[in-house]
Amino acid sequence: MSAHGRARRLQREGAMDTPKTSRREFCAHAITFATMASLIEACGGGSPTSPSGGGNVPQLSTVGGTANGNIVTVSNVTGTALANVGSAALVQAGGNNILVLQAAQGSFKAFTAVCTHEQNIITGFQNNSTFVCPAHGSQFNTSGGVVQGPATRALREFPTQFTNNVLTITV
Ligand code: FES
Repeated sequence: MSAHGRARRLQREGAMDTPKTSRREFCAHAITFATMASLIEACGGGSPTSPSGGGNVPQLSTVGGTANGNIVTVSNVTGTALANVGSAALVQAGGNNILVLQAAQGSFKAFTAVCTHEQNIITGFQNNSTFVCPAHGSQFNTSGGVVQGPATRALREFPTQFTNNVLTITV
């Protein structure tokens, strides 16, 4: 083969090598990016509003009520999950979701179950003392105050009345 022919062959081989090198470099970069992405995820680099909390928290029992205007009524309270002092339940009636707690014998507290963070329904109750939002883990005490964010505002409280085993909540 002439010198000219060898030069052309080398040029051709060089040209064929170029895509291999590029592919190798591409793969190396891809692995680097994938590694960085998994590291960021492992370090908790997700959005502060991404689901993360309340997964293993005991769930509140649900108690059905009736709604008439802004009055929610729960009948036969002693036959429900709210029968005992310290017990709590999620009362649902006509689109209302209300956290109810029997704070003392015959004395009930009621709060909106709509989380003040991003309006998910609070369904968890742990240690008989803390309401927990399953969406992002906000926690509220039995006075409705924030114990743990991301929520920053307390739950709105509703007035209650308890007479003849009937609980009335004004929402
Ligand atoms: S909606 Fe985000 S913690 Fe409740």
